[in-house]
Amino acid sequence: MIRLRELNPDDVSEVRRIYSGPSLRYLGRGPMGVDEAAAYVAAATARPRLRYIFGIDVGGDLAGIIKLNTADSEARLSYILRHDTWGRGVATCAVTESLAFAFDALSVSTVRAKHRVENGASGRVLRKSGFTQTGTAGGFLYYMAVGCFREGSSPQASC
Ligand SMILES: CC(C)(COP(=O)(O)OP(=O)(O)OC[C@H]1O[C@@H](n2cnc3c(N)ncnc32)[C@H](O)[C@@H]1OP(=O)(O)O)[C@@H](O)C(=O)NCCC(=O)NCCS
Repeated sequence: MIRLRELNPDDVSEVRRIYSGPSLRYLGRGPMGVDEAAAYVAAATARPRLRYIFGIDVGGDLAGIIKLNTADSEARLSYILRHDTWGRGVATCAVTESLAFAFDALSVSTVRAKHRVENGASGRVLRKSGFTQTGTAGGFLYYMAVGCFREGSSPQASC
């Protein structure tokens, strides 16, 4: 069972495991240290907040993190899954749930996302979740999803 949940201080070591190894290939950063992970978790739980940072929990295992930045009029979505959890539909479920949260709970009308051109798995996740590609620039593909996406397309996630 996949669910999105708040992070808590006990998650620091698991957050470090997520931000390591092959998961960093397209993110342009190095592994996360202890201090950075502690600050990351603290920021995720700070209030008031403009970014929603959720842990992706798979049967009690913190498999990844998904972020919804609502600082602008349009929300921006990003995510990372621990390498040993890839290929099981976890990201697609998490993205689909996050879109529902953005549209239904936050009343956001548009969510945008991007990935590096060579990151085919991320593009597949976005398209399966109801995103439409809008353009390419600077080595990235850009996508958007609008609030009525359920009526105009068919997200393929079954969570
Ligand atoms: C991208 C990422 C989130 C995918 O997570 P995941 O849980 O494995 O994704 P899912 O299992 O839901 O779906 C992956 C899909 O991509 C497909 N895929 C895998 N590798 C692919 C590739 N190189 N090219 C195209 N599609 C690919 C899979 O076949 C699957 O599609 P399918 O269900 O139609 O077969 C994960 O690889 C990750 O965390 N990567 C590092 C961080 C990252 O890139 N984040 C996004 C930055 S924008």
